[in-house]
Amino acid sequence: MLGRSGRRAVALGAPVLATAVLATAVSAVPSSAVVPGRAAAQVHARTAALPYQDPSLPVRDRVEDLLARMSLDDKVGQMTQAERGALDPVSDLATYRIGSVLSGGGSAPSPNNARSWADMYDSFQRVALSTPLGIPMIYGVDAVHGHNNVHGATIFPHNIGLGAARDPELVRRIGRATAEEMSGTGVDWNFAPCVCVARNDRWGRTYESFGELPELPGAMTTLVTGLQGESLNASGSVLATAKHYVGDGGTTGGVDQGDTRLSEAELRAVHLPPFRAAIERGVGSVMISFSSWNGAKLHGHRYLITDVLKGELGFSGFVVSDWAGIDQLDGAPGFTAEEVRTAVNAGIDMVMVPNDYRRFIGLLRSEVQAGRIPMARVDDANRRILTKKFELGLFERPLTDRNYTGTVGSAEHRALAREAVRKSQVLLKNDGGVLPLAKDARIFVAGKSADDIGNQSGGWTISWQGDSGPVTPGTTILQAIRSTVTNPANVTYSRSGSGVNGDYDVAVAVVGETPYAEGEGDRPGSLGLDAEDLDTLARLRSAGVPVVVVLVSGRPLDIGAHLPDWRALLAAWLPGTEGQGVADVLFGDHRPTGKLPMTWMQSASQQPINDGDGKTPLFPYGYGLTYPDRPTDPTPTPTPTTPPPGPAGCTAEYRVIGSWSGGFQAEVTVRNAGGSPLNGWTARWNWNQGQRIASLWNGVLAQNAPDVIVRNASWNGALAPGTSATFGFTATGASTPPSVTCTAP
Ligand code: GLC
Repeated sequence: MLGRSGRRAVALGAPVLATAVLATAVSAVPSSAVVPGRAAAQVHARTAALPYQDPSLPVRDRVEDLLARMSLDDKVGQMTQAERGALDPVSDLATYRIGSVLSGGGSAPSPNNARSWADMYDSFQRVALSTPLGIPMIYGVDAVHGHNNVHGATIFPHNIGLGAARDPELVRRIGRATAEEMSGTGVDWNFAPCVCVARNDRWGRTYESFGELPELPGAMTTLVTGLQGESLNASGSVLATAKHYVGDGGTTGGVDQGDTRLSEAELRAVHLPPFRAAIERGVGSVMISFSSWNGAKLHGHRYLITDVLKGELGFSGFVVSDWAGIDQLDGAPGFTAEEVRTAVNAGIDMVMVPNDYRRFIGLLRSEVQAGRIPMARVDDANRRILTKKFELGLFERPLTDRNYTGTVGSAEHRALAREAVRKSQVLLKNDGGVLPLAKDARIFVAGKSADDIGNQSGGWTISWQGDSGPVTPGTTILQAIRSTVTNPANVTYSRSGSGVNGDYDVAVAVVGETPYAEGEGDRPGSLGLDAEDLDTLARLRSAGVPVVVVLVSGRPLDIGAHLPDWRALLAAWLPGTEGQGVADVLFGDHRPTGKLPMTWMQSASQQPINDGDGKTPLFPYGYGLTYPDRPTDPTPTPTPTTPPPGPAGCTAEYRVIGSWSGGFQAEVTVRNAGGSPLNGWTARWNWNQGQRIASLWNGVLAQNAPDVIVRNASWNGALAPGTSATFGFTATGASTPPSVTCTAP
């Protein structure tokens, strides 16, 4: 039977009286005397007769009824989250009344597939349900770009690529697809989205950010709606988490878990808005950041957690710590009673312990019994946690709905991921219109990331830090290129570029970063390409073949010095399993529409560099080229109507085809509107707002500003009557179209 929440109901039976008597008896029993076997024996006598078990009652009433029946041990257990691998024996889940289990990055059952995840989830859940009150556990994972711990799941682009796509509705759809794949494995809580505002590209979690300004992470909180659905109780919905509260992306030097040194006004202006947006979308949980604010650890920050997040912003869900986050409060390894007290009294409702859960429970219980943690704080935490469990429908339908298991890695979800990959591509350079590639071109493909699912997926993929190699099923960029061209025999691949020669029309170099995640990914030194990539690119350059670079990276890289050697540059970010989306753009089946979510440095010495900081970037926030509205093929294109007879004469049509903060892309089509052949043309216009051409193709720039003069290139000056040629350029300044005149020589 498929319940509305997309979960399978648990068969319940037996008379009301028996349940009431048993429940009372159990709650009166001192928790230390609870014997799992006895608790387990009572579960069969329970039926949905107590108020908290009655789904027809308002959640608030159910919470209060259940809370009144809970012992201190029950309440302390609900505030405890343990890692799946730490539960030993698994029955500790019942013995200690633990309310939540998580998989840390890469923590998976064996075999790692959707079905064994579902079996694992259900087995944990059955243990949790065996307690006297039968409170279901909630299971959390980092499904940060699809259900990425599960082999065979759809891996979507990481957030930096989704920020480049500028499509909140697409992100909502990705949230929904992720929730379905999670639901098919039982998992009901996603530690996502990261709504961090990455301000320094040195940070190893830059790719988990949708952008460097709060507007993008704020807009992409549609992921919350996708994950949680129209209601948490709806079929396939899972709980979302806004993380990491607050200022994780603003640390000095981009140091992970570092110190964000900002005034309160700056913290509120840059890092708080995405949490406000997530709360407005009803996000069910918030995870606290490891980082500090002006030297004070967020995990102990009562003002920011209780007064601002819960009070001022009105967050009514529950707050979870990060992985052993409370251990860091005193700067010494492990956690102490004082750290437990400080964190819980600051407003943390559930602690991701995640290993020494017995000791944590003992300390928390004793702090409450000593009156150092008010019972009111414990009750508030429990109300918040239980409310989400009731809203999710876990009490009625606690087990996996196997109807969703088949959605894991489904063709439908992979098609959605491919669409996301297409939309996330940012075209940064395209000299001479080398892109889109012709499908009959002779193409040499090189680079360590051309045929590597692991590299194109990045961190948080199957394992915590991610790995190079065939880590999960998908389509590599090389495979995508081969499946797109008319004849795969025209595509040659060599990782190192060896064998390339001048016979090829173009070389595509897929280079960038190998996978990393938090901590490992910080780059305090160079932000450039590694030696292997540089060696490959040099080999291609020496062959004299036009080079198109596809950059697979989790952030902007320091590539300015090499850019002149490249005809084109496409930022692919970390696209995930559906590399076909990259080929869709490379070959023009879809035009590039992505815009930079991060300012692109001229060199690493500029870090941090962000929109509006007065520094001059290589490419500004929002920058992104596209292909012309029509082919800028050098060979002139005939016009549909026959021009009137008479002397040669040209007209010019000016079009803006893309814009960003501080600049734009435009193209001008020159047409021979006369009756005799043109042998050359000159286009002119006046710019009076300080505009300047930054790069131009299919023409020769004779003067830049304020009177701009562009002459024909060698290949597009001769225009028969009625034919045209188009040149394009990027420019800085306002994109107001000028009046363009065209003259024949
Ligand atoms: C990690 C990350 C956090 C993640 C959590 C559970 O340390 O900081 O983003 O949700 O632990 O894996």
